[in-house]
Amino acid sequence: MIINGKTAIVTGGASGMGEATVIRLHRAGARVVIADLNEEKGQELAAQLGSNALCIKTDISSVDEVQHLCKAANDAFGAVHILVNNAGLGTIGRTLGKNGPLNLKVFKKTIEVNLIGSFNMLSNAAWEMDKNEGEDGEKGVIINVSSIAAYDGQIGQASYSASKAGIVGMTLPVARDLARHGIRVFTIAPGIIDTPMLKEVPEPARQSLAKQVPFPARLGDPDEFARLVQHIIENGYLNAECIRLDGGIRMGPS
Ligand SMILES: NC(=O)c1ccc[n+]([C@@H]2O[C@H](COP(=O)([O-])OP(=O)(O)OC[C@H]3O[C@@H](n4cnc5c(N)ncnc54)[C@H](O)[C@@H]3O)[C@@H](O)[C@H]2O)c1
Repeated sequence: MIINGKTAIVTGGASGMGEATVIRLHRAGARVVIADLNEEKGQELAAQLGSNALCIKTDISSVDEVQHLCKAANDAFGAVHILVNNAGLGTIGRTLGKNGPLNLKVFKKTIEVNLIGSFNMLSNAAWEMDKNEGEDGEKGVIINVSSIAAYDGQIGQASYSASKAGIVGMTLPVARDLARHGIRVFTIAPGIIDTPMLKEVPEPARQSLAKQVPFPARLGDPDEFARLVQHIIENGYLNAECIRLDGGIRMGPS
């Protein structure tokens, strides 16, 4: 798909990898819709970009808010062609803690946002994409965001890993469902990327994390994620797969 002139929704677009993606796609000529809970940061970024950028405050786990987002994107820019399904939250907690089993509310919230929210977002965006005429039959591209925790979940990551593994698991069936609609579906599983989430980690711990990456021995740059997003959009033969973006790291138990 040619990015120039297309409309892209980027969830979690106000920060980290989402923000880098918004900037890159906008530079490539897309009209971008920043869909984030953090309206202040989203509006700030949209204002910086100027025309062809819009922020709509959205909770991806709300059906009403996601439907409103898709309609607002369509009203503003006339279509939805690209979804970067990136919003997510990180939770932590061992299966058995000092005071008993993990609070089920934590597990449910993680699944509710990361997995159900991602499906809610992709199904509603696909509904909009299906209205496009398409070039060579291609009406849309959906890029989900999992994590290497889907494969190498560490101690305390049961809920986060389950939510991200669910995204890997649904990639193939959703791609099969949407093939007849001319919509490609792809998933990226990032490793340790240097986003605001990671900036809270103290410097010695950051250095130790960086050393665990085989090559290059450093944290990932959010724009490396955005470049992969750009490539997936532009390369029409990529479909129904999950790719790790992680410098070769395989996480140990802790
Ligand atoms: N940073 C990493 O090392 C890393 C590694 C693997 C996977 N990931 C995943 O990549 C994605 C982006 O992570 P990041 O590091 O850029 O994070 P980040 O915290 O910098 O940004 C996440 C954004 O998502 C938004 N958000 C959270 N819940 C939301 C909701 N319910 N609805 C809408 N927006 C919501 C936040 O407001 C925030 O702006 C997440 O799905 C995360 O799980 C991150």
